[in-house]
Amino acid sequence: MDKLIIRGGNRLSGTIPISGAKNAALTLIPCALLTEEPMTLRNLPRLADIDGFQHLMTQFGVSTAIKGTRPEDFGRIVTFEASRLTSTVAPYDLVRKMRASILVLGPMLARAGEATVSMPGGCAIGNRPIDLHLKALEAFGAEIELTQGYVKAMAPDGGLPGGDFDFPVVSVGATENALMATVLANGTSRLTGAAREPEIVDLCNLLTAMGAEIEGIGSSDLTIHGVKRLNGATYKVMPDRIEAGSYACAAAITGGEVRLEGANAADMVSTLAALRNIGIQVEEDAKGVNIASDGTLKPVDLTTAPFPGLATDMQAQLMSLLSKAEGTSVLKETIFENRFMHVPELARMGADIATEGRTAIVKGPSLLTGAEVMATDLRASMSLIIAALAAEGETTVRRIYHLDRGYERLEEKLQLVGADIERVDD
Ligand code: EPZ
Repeated sequence: MDKLIIRGGNRLSGTIPISGAKNAALTLIPCALLTEEPMTLRNLPRLADIDGFQHLMTQFGVSTAIKGTRPEDFGRIVTFEASRLTSTVAPYDLVRKMRASILVLGPMLARAGEATVSMPGGCAIGNRPIDLHLKALEAFGAEIELTQGYVKAMAPDGGLPGGDFDFPVVSVGATENALMATVLANGTSRLTGAAREPEIVDLCNLLTAMGAEIEGIGSSDLTIHGVKRLNGATYKVMPDRIEAGSYACAAAITGGEVRLEGANAADMVSTLAALRNIGIQVEEDAKGVNIASDGTLKPVDLTTAPFPGLATDMQAQLMSLLSKAEGTSVLKETIFENRFMHVPELARMGADIATEGRTAIVKGPSLLTGAEVMATDLRASMSLIIAALAAEGETTVRRIYHLDRGYERLEEKLQLVGADIERVDD
């Protein structure tokens, strides 16, 4: 198992290329199930979760062809072809490793009239139920049976009629499953209270390119007019707004000046607003975002919320940054019940953070010192890297497989801007 060794204190300076978005790619890939024609995705990030999803797709008889990339390239081009399916079952041993596998449920049901997917179970940040996914599919006419840890979904003969569903809670994954389930339905479906994250817009853009008819894209009220069939398409995955926000925090905490090449500022409004309030200079242009800090950081109060609010996936990274702010910041996590796993590890590096339920009180500026720390979940791991870049001395981060799920060639990208970081075999 690899570990990362970081020696803090270097001001980051230069350009970081931003990869394709993991959380877009994970919902774009299963769209290949919706057509018998080839579907090609460009700018697909090289990540463990993406490899895992590609492997899952081959379980159904989907062929995947990686093309057009050199080893030094970031991202890759992959063509998926589901001309005929040999299975409609997503097995436990694959789903348990990657909960996003639940996103095959909607498209598989739409394509094959049935789908059997292992229930994903919880993860470090919460129990993460899938009740909204299932209620939505039932609203579209599916029959759902839970048996032996599996979800078995069946469409009536002739396919899903479609229907209306109002989301009581904003759910990114359930909105994605609902969209992929209804684009081939026999009628019109209306989603209200749907998620509006940029990754949902990316999904709607791909589905539209394949021939789907969707109204209200980008809003929380979506109308999907079912069509008889969908074509293949070639589509470029959107840039990763959370990766970009993470590296913005890394640049800021070191008092550095970094360009996030390829980042789309329009996807990052709440994060960039938070950084500006903290005293970071943020300049946006059509091809990226420039981040500069003189190292003086102001405390701010932040509350996570569904898009366009502050992304929960940015909470841990901003908390690290705020541990260096001159004063007290209050962070409220409203999306997941256990998303402060980074706090004890940051405390071991000298951060002064108290948590009460879903609220964290961050006192700064703390003198951060290097330590041996353990990654727990993807974004918590990144918050430890960010702290280590500003800590005095050496930090060792273990269990970095959590990082490899969501950050493409992390140490290479940080080395590009002068970080003293290396990956070693543990
Ligand atoms: C997606 O997870 C992202 N993952 C998460 O990113 C992200 O944190 C989350 O959306 C919120 O933005 C992917 O896109 C692969 P939700 P998802 O359904 O879809 C509750 C990362 O770090 N809920 O929007 O699973 C749920 O418990 C990951 O990249 C139900 O109650 O999130 C949570 O409290 C972590 N019932 C809230 O809704 C359901 O059926 C939001 O969850 C579904 C969700």
